[in-house]
Amino acid sequence: MIYITGDIHREQDIHKINPREFEAGNYLTPDDYVIICGDFGCIWDGGSGDRFWLNWLESLPWNTLFIDGNHENFDVLSTYPIVDYKGGKARQIRSNIFHLMRGEVYDIDGHTFFTFGGAYSHDIMYRTEHVNWWKDELPTKAEVNNALCNLEKHHWKVDYVLSHDVYTCHPLAKKYEVSLSPYGPDYVDIHSFLDTINRKLEYKVWFCGHYHGDYIHYDQKKPCITLFNHVVLLEELDTYLPLLEHIK
Ligand SMILES: [Fe+2]
Repeated sequence: MIYITGDIHREQDIHKINPREFEAGNYLTPDDYVIICGDFGCIWDGGSGDRFWLNWLESLPWNTLFIDGNHENFDVLSTYPIVDYKGGKARQIRSNIFHLMRGEVYDIDGHTFFTFGGAYSHDIMYRTEHVNWWKDELPTKAEVNNALCNLEKHHWKVDYVLSHDVYTCHPLAKKYEVSLSPYGPDYVDIHSFLDTINRKLEYKVWFCGHYHGDYIHYDQKKPCITLFNHVVLLEELDTYLPLLEHIK
């Protein structure tokens, strides 16, 4: 089984996957997955805080997979080893915790996923680079090229997309005023890159996080589900649709 949710921000919102609250978690096994659509937050201080939360997550019976959001410590994240994982490259954090990297395609439990983390922070004026803000929250040209190359190999067809931010024509993309200027010439506007993906890629459902709410938006009949409070079971997705706010 595959469960998917949005941002957990370490201790702030991790309760939603604590089996005391996440009832299904009491019955999951090492064959099951919980996927977080960015703002994992458990790789943040590179020390005892991270160890505490990673130890706890590792003690749970399922596999925890996450894409990166804009609130990760990218300096620490980059120190974890890259391994081959389910047809793509992933960073192995613990025995059952993996970072699904930007531009990779994975085959998880018979479903194919294209993953592309990262997002604009809309509060960088209050943040300090390499302390609580990293330019690497946006993709580089190399990561974009890796994505295009991998999608070419998969003939631009997957089952699901996992991202943190959204594509340009999604209504949430306009929620905050953002600019590429603080990032520099190596970085790419994530909204417009995801827009390219949305227009060209054949997929069934797009999942994202970042906007701290539970929404569904249809772009030319293709659903984009934004998750925050809900932890949805992929195999029974239809039962969750009435719980999501429809945005146009
Ligand atoms: Fe967040």
